Amino acid sequence: MEVEGIRMQLKTYHQDHLLDFWDELTDLEKKELADDISSVDLAETNSYFQRANDSLKNNNKILDHEMSPINSERCGILNQCSEEQLRGYEKKGLREIAEGRVAVVLMAGGQGTRLGVTYPKGMYEVGLPSKKTLFQLQAERIRRLEFIAEETCGKRGGITWYILTSEATDKMTNDFLNHHNYFGLVKENVKTFKQCMIPCYDFDGKILLDAKHKISRAPDGNGGLYRALHQSGMLDDMRKRAIRSIHAHSVDNILIKVADPYFVGYCLDKGADCGVLVVEKTEPTEAVGVVSQVHGLYRVVEYSEIPKTTSELRRADGRLLFNAGNVCNHYFTVDFLVKISECHEKDLDLHLAKKKIPFVDEKGERQVPASPNGIKVEKFVFDVFKYSRNFAAWEVPRDSHFSPLKNSNSVGQDCPATAKRDVLALHKKWLLKAGVTSVMGEVEVSPLRSYMGENLKGLDDVIQGPVVVE
Ligand code: UTP
Repeated sequence: MEVEGIRMQLKTYHQDHLLDFWDELTDLEKKELADDISSVDLAETNSYFQRANDSLKNNNKILDHEMSPINSERCGILNQCSEEQLRGYEKKGLREIAEGRVAVVLMAGGQGTRLGVTYPKGMYEVGLPSKKTLFQLQAERIRRLEFIAEETCGKRGGITWYILTSEATDKMTNDFLNHHNYFGLVKENVKTFKQCMIPCYDFDGKILLDAKHKISRAPDGNGGLYRALHQSGMLDDMRKRAIRSIHAHSVDNILIKVADPYFVGYCLDKGADCGVLVVEKTEPTEAVGVVSQVHGLYRVVEYSEIPKTTSELRRADGRLLFNAGNVCNHYFTVDFLVKISECHEKDLDLHLAKKKIPFVDEKGERQVPASPNGIKVEKFVFDVFKYSRNFAAWEVPRDSHFSPLKNSNSVGQDCPATAKRDVLALHKKWLLKAGVTSVMGEVEVSPLRSYMGENLKGLDDVIQGPVVVE
């Protein structure tokens, strides 16, 4: 298309500033910019900004009497289950794995701006004795679980690992996995797929330029998963493989129990189409979203949406009434994912985040701002709860299930040092429970040896770190 045609189109949507530097571009750059602009659905993009703005107003509304906690019949609590119940859930989960009906969807398309590294977060290693990265820990947990399922059920069905990437993480993730031979997983069972990148805006909804010939873009949030699963053909792949149960989780929880057989088994037991694994919120002031019902529909209610008095309400046993802390850990059936991608994806809420976004200013100079100057629009993975016909929640102890890597060490929380600390503390607990009398220094248990504390009998009485129990 001629430049005047593009300009006319942009004008219609008040985005013609994107051509401000056209005359300064080389022929190649002109082509790149024209292609870049043509790939944007301008009507949809403008409506994204508008909808995100509207939802910001709604999300800031304080909810109160509209809220109720998760129905207790739909919420299992690991610590309150009998041994027999737990064995039952585990058996169901392992059977599902052995039959080849379980897949993991790893959300790894984020830019990890708070951690501040230039490579995908999955490639980060927090300084454990083994120096294993998040990707390696997760891959090895899958391998161990496949083994346990086979041993228990006498049948081997692989767990397929679907990894959501974005333009920001795709190439490096693929190169890394390939270079490390998929950490011993069957290559055909590891599949990456890319989410969309959508334009970034200034506060007035004008699309920002990242270079004179390039639109600034960011991944469309972890809720971009649903569109990407469909567009990349991964949903078809799941159906071809006769997969039924999906465990979807974030890349940055170092304690993640990948394909957690208790969680999967519990959701199967409840016949859930959509499930959430939660950790108990214990302090009313903790800034974590809580899974609740609002007008009878399940959703995550953000900390800022709950009045202080409501956040402080307690149950008879002393636990907070609204205590189901959401930690980006989900169960879906493949049928549910198909329903979302076919019927609801376009209606997902849009969230607006103010961020520091590098941009080209009116003089044509690229600026890297020190404070937020623009807006990223994101979809969230949990915004599909309201479409569930059979929702279930599974509450687990935090110290054995959740330690996210979000920040650099200078923040002192949810950072490499706390992630490492939490892994070593959990492994020490496992070892002591298995009969080791003294664990000194940094002692790590390889995921290939133990998935959740099993298979640790018969070790030395005293273990002195740094060492990895292989
Ligand atoms: P976060 O919201 O913590 O974002 O993502 P992030 O990119 O890791 O970190 P910041 O906010 O830039 O510091 C939670 C999970 O969702 C994934 C992330 O990779 C992480 O596993 N995610 C996030 C995506 O897969 N795509 C996105 O567009 C955003």
